[in-house]
Amino acid sequence: MPDQPTRQYIVSESAVKRAFLLGSVGMVAVILVLLLMITLRPQGQYQALDDSQHQALLAEAEARLTGFELLENGAARIDIDHAMQLVVERGVGLAFARPAPTEAAPDPDLVAEVDGGAVYTAHCMACHQATGAGVPGAFPPVAGHVGDLYAADPAYLVQLVIYGLQGEIVVQGTTYNGVMMALPQLSDAEIAALLNHTLTEWGDADELGDAFVPFEVEDVAEQRDLGWTPADVLERRGELELE
Ligand code: HEC
Repeated sequence: MPDQPTRQYIVSESAVKRAFLLGSVGMVAVILVLLLMITLRPQGQYQALDDSQHQALLAEAEARLTGFELLENGAARIDIDHAMQLVVERGVGLAFARPAPTEAAPDPDLVAEVDGGAVYTAHCMACHQATGAGVPGAFPPVAGHVGDLYAADPAYLVQLVIYGLQGEIVVQGTTYNGVMMALPQLSDAEIAALLNHTLTEWGDADELGDAFVPFEVEDVAEQRDLGWTPADVLERRGELELE
């Protein structure tokens, strides 16, 4: 009887099973990791910017740069000598940042340092409007009218702001019969700067020409102790020669 050859496996059945099992577990693990990678979102907060916000950000960034010349194609160029000088002066990190302004705070007692436009916005604009045109029948115009009042008597404008005005007036053919409150809490420099603003903002000073001399602190201070009521201001107005 010939010898039956014995079957011998190089790899045992249990080893195949184990390899198969490990392979499956490995594949499931890889799929899980891939799924995790796909579904995990990057951390952080995102905010959608519309175009104007984007432009504002760009403008802000641009404002912090100095020494650049903007080219037509949207690129910027800086003179190499200038660039080197900036690096030497400020160090690489800060070379192209605009230096922080070191201006001192404005002096509230100097007319030239008070922003008359800001005083107008805060105390007059609600009634007389940003354009100075007022509201016909309710609030008379300031633009194109302060020049006439100034020509009649500059001091009247100061009195109007310090003491207010009440009663019937006619401005450019329209009748008003309201109350403008007194604003004695404004400083001399604020009133001077404010009146200068109203006269120069809408061309009244141009029409006055040489007759216009900007208000100074003393021009306001002189009118402080009259102790007038808004009706007194109306009476004074009646003495003015207004057309
Ligand atoms: C609450 C509303 C109001 C505010 C705020 C106000 N005004 Fe008036 N203003 C009036 C009214 C109302 C009149 C007309 C008064 C009347 O009919 O007698 C007037 C009149 C005037 C006139 C015309 C005066 C004249 O005699 O023709 C001027 C100039 C003027 N205001 C400037 C100012 C300035 C400058 C400020 C800021 C400091 C200011 N007003 C703030 C309501 C206001």
